[in-house]
Amino acid sequence: MCGIVGYVGPRPSQDILIAGLARLEYRGYDSAGIAVIDGEGHLGMRKKAGKLNALRDSLADAPLGDGTTGIGHTRWATHGGPTDVNAHPHLADGGKLAVIHNGIIENFAALREELLADGVEFLSETDTEVAAALLGREYATSGNLQDAFQRVVNRLEGAFTLLAMHQDHPGLVVGARRNSPLVIGLGEGENFLGSDVAAFVEHTRKALAIGQDQIVSITPSDVTVTDFEGNPVQAEPFEVSWDAAAAEKGGWSSFMAKEVAEQPEAVANTIRGRVRDGAVVIPELDGLDELFIGINRVIITACGTASYAALVGKYAIEQWARVATDVELAHEFRYRDPVIGDDTLVISISQSGETMDTLMAVKYARERGARTLSICNTQGATIPRESDAVVYTHAGPEVAVASTKAFSAQITALLLLGLHMGRVRSTLTDTTAVEELSTLPEKIAQVLAEENEHVSQLAGWMADTRSVLFLGRHVGYPIALEGALKLKEISYIHAEGFAAGELKHGPIALIEPGQPVFVIVPSPRHSALIHSKVVSNIQEIRARGARVIVVAEEGDAAVLPFADEVIRIPLAGAMFEPVLAVVPLQIFAMALATAKGLDVDQPRNLAKSVTVE
Ligand code: F6R
Repeated sequence: MCGIVGYVGPRPSQDILIAGLARLEYRGYDSAGIAVIDGEGHLGMRKKAGKLNALRDSLADAPLGDGTTGIGHTRWATHGGPTDVNAHPHLADGGKLAVIHNGIIENFAALREELLADGVEFLSETDTEVAAALLGREYATSGNLQDAFQRVVNRLEGAFTLLAMHQDHPGLVVGARRNSPLVIGLGEGENFLGSDVAAFVEHTRKALAIGQDQIVSITPSDVTVTDFEGNPVQAEPFEVSWDAAAAEKGGWSSFMAKEVAEQPEAVANTIRGRVRDGAVVIPELDGLDELFIGINRVIITACGTASYAALVGKYAIEQWARVATDVELAHEFRYRDPVIGDDTLVISISQSGETMDTLMAVKYARERGARTLSICNTQGATIPRESDAVVYTHAGPEVAVASTKAFSAQITALLLLGLHMGRVRSTLTDTTAVEELSTLPEKIAQVLAEENEHVSQLAGWMADTRSVLFLGRHVGYPIALEGALKLKEISYIHAEGFAAGELKHGPIALIEPGQPVFVIVPSPRHSALIHSKVVSNIQEIRARGARVIVVAEEGDAAVLPFADEVIRIPLAGAMFEPVLAVVPLQIFAMALATAKGLDVDQPRNLAKSVTVE
């Protein structure tokens, strides 16, 4: 939530900031703004409600000049609506100081009172303006931006990434982070700050990860990182593994369309280097067998789409590693009193690695003595840094707000992890599963090639539909949940996913003539029993007039008499079917949203990275 970019160097910063914001726009798109210190040492600022284009247009009419120090922000509103005034940057010290912020300053009301009593006047309703005013007041006492900034961050509570610059110090941007992301990009004679590497990857792939409660100062030639007490700390260097082109639309109609199509590659990249001599061996987990031995329980914690991947992981880990596995929504997990300890492995899943709810769940698990492992798609992110171990999904940057390729890569990583744990724990008997892994990318490609047109057409016919239901059993159940989430988040159509067996316990009351229902049918080759139960469920809804759209494996003829439409997926092992079955549902959601003329990449009210609780 909220994207942040900072630049110091020899080049005019305005265009660099706008390009950085364009790559971060997925983090929030309510409003945007930049501040630039120009050649004469004046700080200029422009901010606009609405998407980045509103700011772009305004700058095209009246540029801020060729200043080479600047900060920029794209907002997802928390305190105060998405208006010009509430947009960032916020100014202080008579307009000489600019501040941008991502997160929520929890003690802002008390600080605001204190500043009001001091005669400070506020223009906006934001917590950020309070931080700016506080910095202005501290700066006035010393004229030293870094010292003042350090004093201010020590007074803030909550989650924040804060950047600031002052016109009396051109060539200097200071930043700090607590529970919100910030990375440094190292250029030649120039340096960058960003909420994630996408902000600067077109300029440099050399980066430094900043830890919790750390402060950074960048100048064109220097980067200094300290803790909140001012003690120097060593920031962790890393190389971004993808280039700027990977985060471009590259001729696709949307990022989501591109990312759906990239799934064979994303899954192949997640598997690459992790199968050795017919067994899954995850190199990042070398020497960490003790994470998996002597545990009595696994808890997988995540939010949204990642939590549905987690549900598939539960089935796989229980089957292959024979350890009881539960899935917990991260935002529920730490608000009860879960029974966890050093015999518990807590696996967190997060594409961004910054989801605040998930981060807090990981910290809570560690405090309770649990072993922690994260599955993450973003190098240098906070959640892996807070975990004992990390397995990266190598899906590449996911820009569209609705998660697609990260989801299939998360399931793949969980399958790898289940197989790795099964080997380490000597519980794995299923050798075919490892062989299946390598065929997964080409099977996804087959679904894309064979079903894209059919499913898109179906969505076109259903553009006026007001509600769609999704049913699944076993590992088809999480896919039903994911199909419903994709549809509601980008097409704004009411959608619900149910466990097929739950139907008779209530949801069947929703079925009326013409009600579209997708049913994910598991292969009869894996379990004739589960298959027959799902076919019975189809008959039950069909008898009540539902319009049944079935996702079933090739050759499954049992579904034909009861289906209005059949979407086919290739034959695959039971645990692998979800990665195939989700693809048509992603295409359906995307095509339906497109038919309704909606922006599939940036659905209303959402942001990609949810860094507030
Ligand atoms: C839905 C979606 C979200 C995320 C959730 C967790 O399409 O993307 O439900 O899955 O917000 O995000 P991460 O994986 O970044 O922790």
